[in-house]
Amino acid sequence: MSFRILGIESSCDETAAAVVADGLDILSSVVASQTDIHRKYGGVVPEIASREHLRHIVPVVREALKRAGLSFSDLDAIGVTQGPGLAGALLVGVTYAKALALALQKPLIAVNHLEGHVHAVLLEAHRAGKRPRLPAVCLIVSGGHTLLYEVTERDTQGSTAQGFEYRRLGGTRDDAAGEAYDKVAKLLGLGYPGGPIIDQLADSSSNTGSLPSGENGLKFGPTKIKGSPLDFSFSGVKTAVLYHLREHQELAPEIEARRASLAHGERSAAQLKPLCSRQTLDLVTNFQKKVVHELVSRSFAAASQCNVKTILVSGGVAANRELRRAFDNQARLQDIEIYFPSRELSTDNAAMIAAAAFARYSSGDRAESMLNADPNLRLGVR
Ligand code: KG4
Ligand code: ZN
Repeated sequence: MSFRILGIESSCDETAAAVVADGLDILSSVVASQTDIHRKYGGVVPEIASREHLRHIVPVVREALKRAGLSFSDLDAIGVTQGPGLAGALLVGVTYAKALALALQKPLIAVNHLEGHVHAVLLEAHRAGKRPRLPAVCLIVSGGHTLLYEVTERDTQGSTAQGFEYRRLGGTRDDAAGEAYDKVAKLLGLGYPGGPIIDQLADSSSNTGSLPSGENGLKFGPTKIKGSPLDFSFSGVKTAVLYHLREHQELAPEIEARRASLAHGERSAAQLKPLCSRQTLDLVTNFQKKVVHELVSRSFAAASQCNVKTILVSGGVAANRELRRAFDNQARLQDIEIYFPSRELSTDNAAMIAAAAFARYSSGDRAESMLNADPNLRLGVR
């Protein structure tokens, strides 16, 4: 009989529940996204996020059970995101999971959201009938995080489950990569979230392969970062876009026109493109190239430093097409295996939380009855 874990995730703006068998087979995965609600504010508003989690948590869990064809009594354990994330948002999931575990008399497992993102890649690999070779380097890149870890397998005393250990190799010194996408999109009047729109606009304008330097190009200084060479920085590229716009006031009317268009509701890249000049398309292409280069070069440097042949990439920004292309190209050159999750597993979901909970459960981890949300929870040792 399989071991079925109900995973619960509420760390940011997605209320999610999923049932996963033996840490690898997804029986159901339900995500209630709040993106439409936060869109008009251009980012996640914490108080609104908590309120929406409260509204959605019960129906989302019920739907996950229904889709899995199970009732509460069929569950073997409950896994919940303890952190990192927004305090009020995390509290909704943690409080609900604690109450449920108590009522059902089932074990409760606290999961680090970042460990969940690592498991998202492993779930996807399993779906494709693959098992990534470990140790690996894992890049977690989303709106809230840009982190590099070394992931090693831990002995789980003969169990079939995989247990993992994490060593933090580097992280962003300022903005997360997804945050930079969102901020640049806001500056340019491209809506929220910015990543998917810039992904599509940049791709459609990068047909020549050579980018303008000078007039239409961004002026970047070299990225100098004190400390670890595996740390990231994205505030420079974001500020470069800001300065570019200050210097090129002729772009102001088209930005206003896009904002006016967005005031009527969400706009697709196809709808926004006719409102973008060549200069703007070049600008987003340049911005994206710079961000992708930063992510890819440091990830491969980490793989080389750790002498590993596998890189896992997870988090919302992992959906980016240019990023995937760049990783794949470099991987071919360096004989490294790259694993990405599917789109639904790369953004926040609860299947990855249930999968991580299974690994923790197999290693004997159980949450205390006094479990509390931890907005600053860290993963692994430095
Ligand atoms: O993992 P996620 O759903 O939520 C957290 O931040 O935890 O990631 C959302 C972030 C946003 O910043 C969004 O702009 C970015 O991921 N994103 C992308 C793409 N799709 C989502 N960034 C670049 N290219 C994409 N295709
Ligand atoms: Zn996340």
